[in-house]
Amino acid sequence: MTVSAIRSSLLHCLRDPGLAGDASAVEYIKDALTIVRDGRIECVGDAKALLPSLGADVVIDDQRGKILVPGFIDTHVHYPQVDVIASYGAQLLDWLNQYTFPAEIAFADRPHADAAAEFFLDRLLENGTTTASVFCTSHPQSVDAFFTASEARGLRMIAGKCLMDQHAPDGLRDTVKSGYHDSKALIERWHGHARSLYAITPRFAPTSSLAQMETMRALAREHPDTYIQSHVAENRAEIAWVDELFPGHRSYLDVYDHYGLLRDKSIYAHCIYLDDADRAHMTAAGATPSFCPTSNLFIGSGLYDLKAALAAGNVVSVGTDVGGGTSYSMLRTLGEAYKVQQLQGTSLSPAYALYLATLGGAKALSLDDKLGSITPGKEADFALLDPAATPLLARRTSLRDDPLDTFFALMTLGDDRAVAATYAGGVCVHRRCGSG
Ligand code: GUN
Ligand code: ZN
Repeated sequence: MTVSAIRSSLLHCLRDPGLAGDASAVEYIKDALTIVRDGRIECVGDAKALLPSLGADVVIDDQRGKILVPGFIDTHVHYPQVDVIASYGAQLLDWLNQYTFPAEIAFADRPHADAAAEFFLDRLLENGTTTASVFCTSHPQSVDAFFTASEARGLRMIAGKCLMDQHAPDGLRDTVKSGYHDSKALIERWHGHARSLYAITPRFAPTSSLAQMETMRALAREHPDTYIQSHVAENRAEIAWVDELFPGHRSYLDVYDHYGLLRDKSIYAHCIYLDDADRAHMTAAGATPSFCPTSNLFIGSGLYDLKAALAAGNVVSVGTDVGGGTSYSMLRTLGEAYKVQQLQGTSLSPAYALYLATLGGAKALSLDDKLGSITPGKEADFALLDPAATPLLARRTSLRDDPLDTFFALMTLGDDRAVAATYAGGVCVHRRCGSG
């Protein structure tokens, strides 16, 4: 039995604050004590009230001046694309062929995958991200490498092997048979093991034959408890291609629905070119969109309409989508999300931005009973933010004594420098150099 405590300011969402940001949905405690027992939050409250009841043997991590928030949740990212980030000059389909597929072929080699998984997890943790929904490559060993590394760090992660048997180079395609059997073996090995959860991972419709789509329907039926993750409606040329490959469907989203891949715990990245019928369909099916602003801007895909998604009842979350995305930082990603909405005349409030990256992300992943807020009984995954991490942040955040204004400054100006520490299951898994 281990007990520890963190003394800091604390900011989190108690419920959905709505796009405009109902401040009463957000709790702020200026001098808080967060007590953790055996990986879970035991008690949270005003430090002065709780300190007298604390056993003399409990070590207190004194982080006054910094703000504890729930660990960030990145609902769409590719760990094998670390070397693809910042690749110049192409839109989606060319970008995949020129940069992404060649980089992913290398993950047939287990030591390469092991090293990339460690590097990737270092980047997530230095950015305060404690849970992510992660694409591996088509090679089953890339999944073994990832979960081996994430379990060694005590992280709650969702990941899966890409299913892709066509329109990709040799060395990256699986087959109808191997895609099915490898996915099944990986589900048995990893789903529910330690804090790992498995996602059946069709790369996107164009890279699966009709026969592979059928086997994914079977996989999804045989494993109703696993996640499903894929891409949809990201780019106009992609959509036209899907129309050719899968004629007779009302929409791109409808292709996934036809093959039983639209359901609870299914996460679809991008969703830029959905119409109202698609959005309503997602809500009815329990599927959720992952909004990936840095990727959508960088690959030139388009502007995600958050307002329309919320009006349709979608449970939206946010993804970095590195290597299409340009930063592992969820703070940077929220900053870009704000700008994408500004371009459409919508202001993303800081309360809703915080929600998207924490409790909203947890809800999208059906993990809100475990993650997303600093509430007794939940898993003790946190990011500790430093509002004075840089001279500019220090100057800007000293102007107003308002925690949501401070969070807005952090998401506009901050990045990994603003993450002083990261905790998983109450254990410090990252501490920024110079942060005591
Ligand atoms: N569509 C299919 N594969 C990918 C990928 O790796 N990244 C992005 N952004 N879109 C995709
Ligand atoms: Zn992606």
